[in-house]
Amino acid sequence: MGLGNIGLPVAVHVSKIYPHTLGYDISEKAVDNVKKHGDVKETCINASTELEYADIYVIAVNTWYRNGYPDMSAVEDCTKRASELNSAALICFESTLTKGTARALAKKYNLENVAVCPHRWWKQEEDKYGVVQLRVLGSLNKESQKKAQEFYDSLGIPIHVVDSLELAELSKLVENTYYYLRIAYAEELKLLCDENDLNFDALHAAVNTKWNVDLPEARDGIGGECLPKDIRFLMNTCSSMPLLQGAITADIRYQAKGAEIFSSNSGNESCDA
Ligand SMILES: NC(=O)c1ccc[n+]([C@@H]2O[C@H](COP(=O)([O-])OP(=O)(O)OC[C@H]3O[C@@H](n4cnc5c(N)ncnc54)[C@H](O)[C@@H]3O)[C@@H](O)[C@H]2O)c1
Repeated sequence: MGLGNIGLPVAVHVSKIYPHTLGYDISEKAVDNVKKHGDVKETCINASTELEYADIYVIAVNTWYRNGYPDMSAVEDCTKRASELNSAALICFESTLTKGTARALAKKYNLENVAVCPHRWWKQEEDKYGVVQLRVLGSLNKESQKKAQEFYDSLGIPIHVVDSLELAELSKLVENTYYYLRIAYAEELKLLCDENDLNFDALHAAVNTKWNVDLPEARDGIGGECLPKDIRFLMNTCSSMPLLQGAITADIRYQAKGAEIFSSNSGNESCDA
């Protein structure tokens, strides 16, 4: 469900193992793209804007941070539709969720089998960091976990099991926020160097010679969809997170300094790497 950056490669991979794979998206364009997609021709994804009955629903639609709040409406829309067709189906949430989303939806729509298995997808190295890579899995109950483990095993996706839906949801947010913090630190150091007439690249190279330091480059600011969204999803789980707020402020300050301080490198706009 959701045939975009994540959902399409998922559908392609699943269809190699399960010949009766269905693809669903509200967008005609996304559905047409499946039909045109080269890899898909060799598989048997039946894509449609109408959702059909299935035993397993994998939800990979958008989640947003809009007007100061997380927006899980597309995930909820898909969950509702899937529950109406088969409330006993295994529902695998692969979209990035705020903590508590999966359990709240399971309760609201009387779902029996629910799992959260977030993505760490990185398009520049899809062979290594695509659909098939070590991922975290949390489940609603023992039966859900058994079914989800069987499903991901059958897809050849190695999993690290955690003992709740919430831990799986949080793990994704923590991973991307960790990267956000490191970039924001690099940005702050770049400004420090500029103010003190020092060469940031030389400092960057020097500190990275230490075995436990991996300072990222300071590029054009933290962009893209995932990192700015995921840090805010994480902040939404706690009344105060001053370190994270500071990182956002550092990035805003860095971006406001303008293009003249930026290197010719592209922005740190990746989702997961
Ligand atoms: N792109 C990445 O690198 C990446 C990595 C890890 C996690 N994620 C997460 O995966 C999720 C999907 O991201 P994406 O990059 O694939 O997004 P995308 O915009 O490329 O694709 C999302 C698809 O969902 C469809 N959609 C939206 N609302 C829908 C609805 N109500 N019903 C059916 N289809 C609907 C859209 O039409 C679109 O085709 C997000 O939660 C994102 O944070 C993305």
